[in-house]
Parts: sequence; C-alpha cells; structure tokens
Amino acid sequence: MTSASYDTAPAGGATALPYPNAESRSAALHARARTVLPSGNSRATVFFKPYPLYAVSGAGCLVTDADGVARIDFLNNYTSLIHGHGHPAVLAAAGKQIETMTAVGLPTESEIDLAELLVDRLASVDQVRFTNSGTEAVMMAIKAARAYTGRPAIAKVEGAYHGAYDFAEVSQISLPTNWGAADHPASAPAYHGQPQSVLDEVVVLPWNDVAASKALLEANASRLAGVLIDPMPSRVALSKIDPDYLDMIRSFTAKSGALFILDEVFNLRMGYRGAQGALGFQPDITAMGKIIGGGFPVGAIGGKAAVMSVFNFDEGRPRISHGGTYNANPVTMAAGRAAMEAMTPEAFARLADLGERLREGLRAALRDANVPGQVSGDASLAMLSLNETPIRTYRDLVGAARHGERQVAIQQRLLNRGILTSPALMFALSTAMGAAEIDHLIAEMRSALRDG
Ligand SMILES: Cc1ncc(COP(=O)(O)O)c(C=O)c1O
Repeated sequence: MTSASYDTAPAGGATALPYPNAESRSAALHARARTVLPSGNSRATVFFKPYPLYAVSGAGCLVTDADGVARIDFLNNYTSLIHGHGHPAVLAAAGKQIETMTAVGLPTESEIDLAELLVDRLASVDQVRFTNSGTEAVMMAIKAARAYTGRPAIAKVEGAYHGAYDFAEVSQISLPTNWGAADHPASAPAYHGQPQSVLDEVVVLPWNDVAASKALLEANASRLAGVLIDPMPSRVALSKIDPDYLDMIRSFTAKSGALFILDEVFNLRMGYRGAQGALGFQPDITAMGKIIGGGFPVGAIGGKAAVMSVFNFDEGRPRISHGGTYNANPVTMAAGRAAMEAMTPEAFARLADLGERLREGLRAALRDANVPGQVSGDASLAMLSLNETPIRTYRDLVGAARHGERQVAIQQRLLNRGILTSPALMFALSTAMGAAEIDHLIAEMRSALRDG
C-alpha cells in the first residue's frame, strides 16, 4: 500500500466517527467486554483511554476498526508484524499448513526449517528451542543459565521489560517510593504480593551506568547465573546500549562465568543477523520472539551447543526439562520461516532507511515547532517523547511522565488522521510501508506539535 493520501475516510461506506466517540461500535464492544474481562482486557498494552479501538481486519500496512475506519498500522502488533498484515508468502505458508495439520503430538520438519534459518543467521546460535511467547523464551533462557552455571540469581536493568516471568519482571515498574538509590536500585516488586524470595534473586542495574553496574555485578558475581540485557529497551524510551556498557557486561560475564543473556524478542528487528549482528558480538543465550513467528504466537531461545546441552536428554534426565503443548507449532513454524525468508538483507536495509527518514522527520518537526522532546530508536523503530531533559534511563522516563497527557492528546489526534500508534508514541515499521506512509505520519505529527 503506497497511496499518498490518507484520511479517516472509512472503507465500505460506513460513517467515520472521530475518536473517542461514545456512539462508536468500539466503545460498545469495550462496554460489553468489561463484564466478562477485567477492565475489558486480556493484554495490558492494547488498552488506551478512554477505550481501545477494536480491530476487524488488516491488509498490508492498514488496519480497519469495528467502525470501518482504516488507519496505517504503526503498532504492527507491538513490532511482531514486520511485513504488516497478510503478506502473500506468509499467508500461503500458514494456509498450506493449516489445511494439512494445525497441531500434532509429534515433531514436524517445519521446526527444523525455522531453526536452520535462525542458526544460519545468528553466529552465536548453534541450536534452538521454540516456545510460544517471548515471556517463555526469557523464562527458559534464565532457567538454562541457572542449569548451566548451577547459580540462582540474575541481573537485569531497571525498568527494562522482558515479559511476565517473575524474575524478569523485577523493577519493571518501580517508583520513586520504592526504587532506592540511583547507583544501587532496589529490587522492587512488579505486582502486589510478589514474593520477597524472587526479589532477593535479582540484582537491578542502572542502565548504561558502567561504574555503578560493574560494582553491583562484582559484588554478586558468585551467585549470578546470567545478566539479562535488551540492547534497546522499549520501556527506557528505546535508548540504545552504550558500547562501553556492552563491553563491561561482556568482560564481566566472561570473567565470572555468568551467561550473557541477550533479549532480542523486540530487537531481532535490528538487522539480518539480529541486534547481536548489529552490535558485533556473540551472547551466550539469545531470547527471540515476535518477528520469527510470521504473526503467530512464538518464542525461542538459542545458543552455543555447550549451553544448549542443558536440554539434552540423550544420556538420561536433562539438566532442565522443557515441554509445551504448542512448542514449535507447525503453523507458526511455517509462517515464521516464510516471514523470515522474506526479510533479506535488502529488506532490512530498506526498513532501516524508512526508519531513518521517520526519525529525521520527527526530529525536524520537534525543532520547527519549538517543542522540547526527543526522538529515539534504531532500524525500523522510533519513539517520540515530549520531555525537557534527555531520557537516558527508566528514571528519566518516569520523570517525563508529566507530559503523558500531551502525548495522549497527540495519539488521539493521530488516530483521527489515519494513524494507529500507542500513547507512548512508538512507531514500528513494516515492509508493507513506503515513503508515503512515513511522510504522512511526519506531516501529521508536524501539525499536531505546531497546534499544541
Ligand atoms: C524485550 C522483550 N522481551 C520479552 C517480551 C515478552 O514477549 P511476549 O509478549 O511474546 O511474551 C517482550 C514483549 O514485548 C519484549 O519486548
């Protein structure tokens, strides 16, 4: 879809309703949902105030809501739909597999096919195990690190999101009231009732603070199974890992025997050889998800054969047992292989160029409107944050939250101008987009910022 003109003109002749509108079908569906789902919802990220739009169909870079309004999809299912909706090769592969068999209590060749592709692309990965979500991938990566080292604890970055496994969630949403000193963050609970024993096994690191993180890691070296790192955490406003920070963690893990666990669930998008290829290093374990499933539920972990041997059961009981009714589901595997095959080096390069065009355009829009803020991200991801001082850490982001209402107003305005994005103003591009979609977003952001 490369049409240059975008309005909220609805498909199929229905009447376009501005968002929010109490008369809309989405508002009615949300009211209905609230009786059978807590707050009407199964997934925190898809809710926005006052009610979320309900989707009915997607095609290419467009998604159409229950009131017939089509918008350019800049969420792409929170980054997993790297080809947008209904990529022909992905549909064909999934369709063929659905007709043949949807699930089975035996392994299938499709699992080998996708594993081979990942092993071929990621230098640090000799072997792979599939899961059903990124949450499970991170969970299995942490368990594998424990099984490999015989140690219980992990280190992770304050505010970084790694899914819903208890240990990975620690300090994901800490607050000034419980987050402790900046150079020694407290292990703060992520939910009411989270066990103290979980918090005790997690060392929380301040993002990109080399000296403070090094001291914390060294003080806990003998009990650390692994250090869990997302190289561009979404909840730290897509701020990239500093090369010095990466080097420090690499040398700490090499020296201490703790494993470097790279969470690429979000950031495998960074390039043909993933974030690790872009950063030029090899982690001990990689957690994957999102784009490798072709739009279906997925996760995976990969690593060198020595590390992955914790799953081996050739000689009796494995060090870690891993089951899962839907692991390596053949529909996901077939769709994932087709989606990843279509992500050639050229496709990644084209997306990165579009990403750069977007980031540059958004920066110019902020400058020209004289609005304080920043644009972050890399490759096919961008985020615009309204803040007076730079956001480099999770704490900076929490401090900038006072601008949240203004961001929500911009999100709502964009929704009424044919653009789907989140209240955090995050943008994930797809190969179904071209320069016209990017330029439409830049133009609309420009007028939103100018009009205040
Ligand atoms: C970095 C990172 N890790 C893990 C996850 C969890 O993945 P899933 O939502 O598939 O469970 C996410 C999800 O957004 C993520 O961004």
